[in-house]
Parts: sequence; C-alpha cells; structure tokens
Amino acid sequence: MKKRDTFSTKIGIIAASAGSAIGLGNIWKFPYMAGINGGSAFIFIYIIAIVLMGYPLIYTEFAMGRRAKSNAVDTFGIIGGRKIWNFAGFLAVLTVFLIATFYMMITGWVIYYFYNSLTGQLYNIAQGADSITYYKDIFAHLSTSFALPLIFSIIGIYITALINSMGIKEGIEKYSKIMMPLLVVIFIVLIGYSMTLPGFNDSMAFLFKPNFSSISPAVIIGAIGQAFFSLSLGMGALITYGSYISKTENIRTIAWQVTVADTIIALFSGLLIFPAVFTYDLAPSAGPSLIFISLPQVFLKMPGGRLFSTLFFLLVIVAAITSLVSILEIIITYVIEKTKWSRKFSTWAVVFAVTVGGAINIAGEGPWSYLQLAGRSIFGWLDYLTNNITIPLVAVLTAILSGWVWGIASLNEELEVGGTPSTSSDRYFNLLLKWVIPPVIIILMIALLLGIQA
Ligand code: PFF
Repeated sequence: MKKRDTFSTKIGIIAASAGSAIGLGNIWKFPYMAGINGGSAFIFIYIIAIVLMGYPLIYTEFAMGRRAKSNAVDTFGIIGGRKIWNFAGFLAVLTVFLIATFYMMITGWVIYYFYNSLTGQLYNIAQGADSITYYKDIFAHLSTSFALPLIFSIIGIYITALINSMGIKEGIEKYSKIMMPLLVVIFIVLIGYSMTLPGFNDSMAFLFKPNFSSISPAVIIGAIGQAFFSLSLGMGALITYGSYISKTENIRTIAWQVTVADTIIALFSGLLIFPAVFTYDLAPSAGPSLIFISLPQVFLKMPGGRLFSTLFFLLVIVAAITSLVSILEIIITYVIEKTKWSRKFSTWAVVFAVTVGGAINIAGEGPWSYLQLAGRSIFGWLDYLTNNITIPLVAVLTAILSGWVWGIASLNEELEVGGTPSTSSDRYFNLLLKWVIPPVIIILMIALLLGIQA
C-alpha cells in the first residue's frame, strides 16, 4: 500500500489548521451573526463556547484522527470499537458536503466583488445616485442570476481543487504556508485603518460592552454552532487533518494556537467591519449581505476606498480558499480510501458533486427562489440545519465517544504521545468532554426543538 501522506512541519500543520478554521465563518458570518444577535451578548457566549467546548474538542478531533489514521467516517468506528459509530462520521461528512455547496456559492460572490473592486466597476456609480439602492441592486443582480455566480464559484472551487490535487504536503501544507501570512498582513493593514475611523468607539461598545438582555436558547445554540463552525469542528475537518499529523507533534499546543488565532481573527473582523458601519450610520443587523451591501457603501465614501475594498475582498478570498481546501479534503480523503481512486481523480469527482450541489444553491437564490419554506431558501435551510442541528450533534457524539467510550485515559495517552505529560489544567479540560459538553448541548437542542424562549 502507498504510504499515507503527512504534514512535514509543525508550522505547516498550524497554517493548514488555522487556514481551515479562519474563513468565511470569521469574516463574513461572525460579524453579521453578532450584528443580528445583539452584539456583546452573542460574543460573550461565543467566547465561553470557544474555551470550554471548542478547545477540548479540537484536540480531541486531532487525537482521534491521529490514532485512527483514517478518513472521518471510519475514524468514529475505529475509535468507538464498533462500526455503528461510523454513522456519526457519516453525519459529519454529509454535513460538510452540504456546507461545501453553499460555501462555494459565497466564495463565488466574494470573487465577483474582488474582481469588480479591482476593475473599479463596483464604484462606478452615477453622480447623485442613491448608494443604498445601487449596492442593493448589484447584490440582487448577482445573487438572483444563475450563470454569473456559478462561473465565479467554479473559479473558486477550481483553484481550491488544484491545491487538493497536489496532496497534503505538496499542496495543502505548501499553499497554507504562503496564504496564511498574506492573510495576516492584509488583515493588519485593514484593521489599522479601521481603528482610525470615528465609529471605532461605538463598535467597541456594541461588541464588548456587556448587555445580556438578548440571550435566549436560540442565541446560545446559534453562538455555539457558530463557534464550532468557525473552529471547523463537528465536520470531520480536524479528524482528517489529525490523521496526517505525525506522532512527534504535541497536539495540545497546536490546538490552542489554532483556537487563539481563529478567535482573534473573528473578533477583529468585527472591529474591521463595524467601525465603518457605525461611522456611516448603517445598520449592524443587516445579515448575510453585510459585507456585500453595507461595506461597499462605506468603501465608496472613504478616501482610498477602492484600494481597501480590493484588499478586503482579497483577504476574504484567501480565507475562504484555505477553508474550502479543508472542506474538500474531508470528502476527498474519504473517497480515496473507499474507492482506491487516485487523489487527482477523487478530487475532481468530489468537485463535480459539490458543483452540482452548488448550482442547486445558486438556483435557489435566483431562478428557483420561489422554493422557500418558512421564509428560508435552500441555502438558508442548509445553513440553519447544519449550524444548529448537525454540527452540534456531531460535536456531542464526538464528546460522548471520546469521554465515555474511548475514555479519557486513552485520549490522554494519545495526547501525550507528542512527549509532554498533561498538567492538572489539561485534565480539567478533559473532564469537560464528559460532564459539560454533552449535557449542555443536548439540553439546548431540546429547548430549541421545543421552541422554548428564555
Ligand atoms: N471554519 C471555516 C470558517 O470559519 O469559515 C468553515 C469550515 C471549514 C467549515 C472546514 C467546515 C470545515 F470542514
């Protein structure tokens, strides 16, 4: 059998895993979710979820993957000692497939905005025209068309697939090590600018001044789901990457570095976007169109806006592609191991299937937009169901599997393989997997299903 590929350097693993975590979830979704859900209340729960649930689950997924050295589906069965556990892995891979279909669509929208910022088209507005209507029209034109967003999303997934097809070391690791530093540099430039805007103080208050009036089970589960989505948990991503980590690495260190990097980028994305929104008196609760309708109005008004706009959308593209690479890799690793097809063939087969799903999402926003259920489009439903149901469910199953079935002792043994014995605080984190994560998420999910409001 061919030797399994592995990451070759620690920095490569961190770049690839942070690349997976930092994505549209941080820059596009986190600010609008915080905006819709009352700002600081949402962020408060988000941070608690990151520390008490996200971090322990990250090292658990890595450890499970490294122990099983297999795809995400079979890892559950191997770790659980019974094939029946594979269904949890299957749910993870199904979830990530569904996510891939709309992630691809939004990546396409971002590439379209980047292209139009670069060419200046996005800022080619007639003197005296109303900028709100102008940007609403541009977004509506893009999102309700079919061929246009499809072409741009195919460009995005094609670039991603080229990286996947080169393998773990020569593709994912190599390109993550180039793209992540680029992301950090662009981010720092943009944040530096944002901090000089008059709306910066209002944003700080909106995002960080405690205000708990809007907390409800729906907000809590939304924040937990968002924390997991952002850390790439509950979808097999870190299990898959873990299966390519060598035994000499210290998984706990990698896990906390990824946690910190992802959280910093999410919080700072809020500080990147809201100062502009407040400076120009726009609504923070604009929803998914925040970066597509609200932000361009801001760029239009600010000096050098076109340059900042181009940089901003480039930043989002880089973030989206390093995440999409990991999303595809979960499915590709599974397909390679199940079919024995070559990596190249498996990659393009997966891309084909995701593109069909992507086209359905795109049609659902455009020509098929009459296909709505309870006010949600196909994309709306996929986003809602994965964020609030399947991701938390897989996370609970992962916690139960590692805490109760595989057992804390075995988990710890795998974590110590890297050479560092666990400390007492490490042991507290392990206990969360057993006693905190499963009951809290299960209670919240039941509350959500029963429609209980706080
Ligand atoms: N964590 C990514 C983000 O915040 O955009 C999204 C993601 C990556 C989802 C990897 C699923 C996944 F497997």
